Amino acid sequence: MSNEAITSLMKETRRFEPPAEFAARARIGSREAYDALYRESLDDPDTFWRREAKDLVLRTPWTKTVEGDFPHVKWFLGATLNVSESCLDRHMSTPTRNKAAIVWEGEHGETRTLTYAQLYRETVLFADALAKLGVEKGDRVAIYMGMVPEVVVAMLACARLGAVHTVIFGGFAADAIRDRVQDCQAKFVITQDGGYRRGHVLELKATVDKALAQPQAASVQKVVVFCHLGREKCPVTMHEGRDVWWHHVVDPNGHARREATIVDAEHPLFILYTSGSTGKPKGVLHTTAGYLVGTHVTTKYGFDLRDDDVYWCTADVGWVTGHSYIVYGPLSNGATCLLYEGAPNFPDWGRFWRLIEKHGVTILYTAPTAIRAFMRQGDEWPKKSDLSSLRLLGSVGEPINPEAWIWYHKNIGGERCPIVDTWWQTETGSILMTTLPGAASSKPGSTGLPMFGVVADVVTKDGASVGANRGGMLVLRRPWPSMLRTVWGDDERFRKQYFSDVEGCYFTGDGARRDEDGYFWVVGRIDDVLNVAGHRIGTAEIESTLVSHPSVAEAAAVGRPDDLKGQALVVFVSLRPGASAGPELATTLANHVGQEIGKFARPDQIRFADALPKTRSGKIMRRLLKDVAAGRETTGDTSTLEDLSVLAKLRSDEE
Ligand code: WT7
Repeated sequence: MSNEAITSLMKETRRFEPPAEFAARARIGSREAYDALYRESLDDPDTFWRREAKDLVLRTPWTKTVEGDFPHVKWFLGATLNVSESCLDRHMSTPTRNKAAIVWEGEHGETRTLTYAQLYRETVLFADALAKLGVEKGDRVAIYMGMVPEVVVAMLACARLGAVHTVIFGGFAADAIRDRVQDCQAKFVITQDGGYRRGHVLELKATVDKALAQPQAASVQKVVVFCHLGREKCPVTMHEGRDVWWHHVVDPNGHARREATIVDAEHPLFILYTSGSTGKPKGVLHTTAGYLVGTHVTTKYGFDLRDDDVYWCTADVGWVTGHSYIVYGPLSNGATCLLYEGAPNFPDWGRFWRLIEKHGVTILYTAPTAIRAFMRQGDEWPKKSDLSSLRLLGSVGEPINPEAWIWYHKNIGGERCPIVDTWWQTETGSILMTTLPGAASSKPGSTGLPMFGVVADVVTKDGASVGANRGGMLVLRRPWPSMLRTVWGDDERFRKQYFSDVEGCYFTGDGARRDEDGYFWVVGRIDDVLNVAGHRIGTAEIESTLVSHPSVAEAAAVGRPDDLKGQALVVFVSLRPGASAGPELATTLANHVGQEIGKFARPDQIRFADALPKTRSGKIMRRLLKDVAAGRETTGDTSTLEDLSVLAKLRSDEE
């Protein structure tokens, strides 16, 4: 976020009351109703969670709600279940059976609809096929697909077998796939020939081939390939003995009879890799019952979900937002979800708004970076479409600056739709703070109040609350059902990363303040994690990628405020002897990052430096580099800087 945006966040005083007609019909229609439920969730969690989980399918109920404390917590002990039964089987005996579960639209405008009965059938058939290929309970299955209904089928089919999926966002490069497959020792990969993005074909299968050609990916035994584009548009090479076509292993006329594998509450459901402040991406592990309950309840109340809603979360399933709010939360609630394959601006900036009109979308959940991009294109685009079906808007991924909030409210919400600003993380599994629609007034830029069971606080390093309107570290004081259970294969990192900064608390990595009404205002990451256009990028990851290039001696990555992307990625590099700085090398290095991680992680700017500013103990002073990147005067303390001339040199390079 730009400084200006942060300042305006600090000064924002506007309030928007929930529209009376919305509140009158809302599941939680007043602040008092929220307060009462919230209190109950803390004082009597057992009663609260048992009631709220009553629609979910538990083969045996839990005997104990929660056990243990940070870092190792177990929820809903004794419960046995399979999440696919809550998302699919339970709807087979109700009218939801014939309701649309997924309404899909391809980038070129073609559509497909799967009812709950069809989604159930597809999932059961595919689960059966996977089982016959050898997928067993506990196996890790990597999924590298685009936004097609089959990605949902693949996830649910893994869940049905008690296999642990790890979805890898389709924008990741081969090396990123290799690293993830290696880290979790995936036995299977599910992919598709290719997908569309802005009119171009993304060759997903070919990228998987590249990843699996490397010895580190030797754990993979089979690759299942869904044919989406076909031979003409996207030819693929099938590796004899390893690769099988989805449509060869699934018999469309088969009997859908694969029983769900019933697992314990704490059985692993999925691993999702995310960037941290150190090292390689970490595999965030979510387990079964707590995650399901968390996403189920927050979808229902957070979006005030009703039976006739057409709900659209624009995230990619490769991110946690897609897992929780395209798949598990909405489907366990029996919602109709729109799934769109392509880019927001294809073929033009009116696409989202035409999708809303065409499918009668009632709830739109998207990210500030997208809202800002639309805002920049002008008000004409949304005006061309009839957006009157919308009744609720959501925002997620980064702080929303009040200007974007107001634009969203006016131009998309027609000033009648509440906006829910939802704060959460890959690690939290589900929304932990929000401006509950119908219950509380919204303040543009504030992420509102804690969700049920959540105790959030803003503290100093020693854990003391800072009090109203003071900045500090955002922490969670109590375990919540959908929290991550560990970092796959590295429990030590799990403890260190989240529980070592503030005694007795989970530290989110975010900075925040709480206002006089108890509303939280998240400012952004205060650790070495960047948020570039809603993508989470670890500076350490970028740096180690750059240093792996033969021309680079040292690298430091920092964020620079950017009006569109929130943060832009700026890297400072010093070169090895013999390498020569210049635009050519800058492009080479940017491409190198694109190839190693993915295009979305390509630096926005590369700056060459003779040396990087360091403390006397040899630590790179990122704080100073941030100032340099932003073109700001350094206000921070430079007394520990080893060599002041380094800083002066960096600045003069700018001129
Ligand atoms: C980080 C988590 C889980 C959603 C997708 C991102 C930032 C997320 C908000 C919000 C302010 C937000 C935080 C958080 N963030 N939502 N509503 N207001 N900041 O998941 O990639 O794990 O990133 O996104 O900085 O720590 P993620």
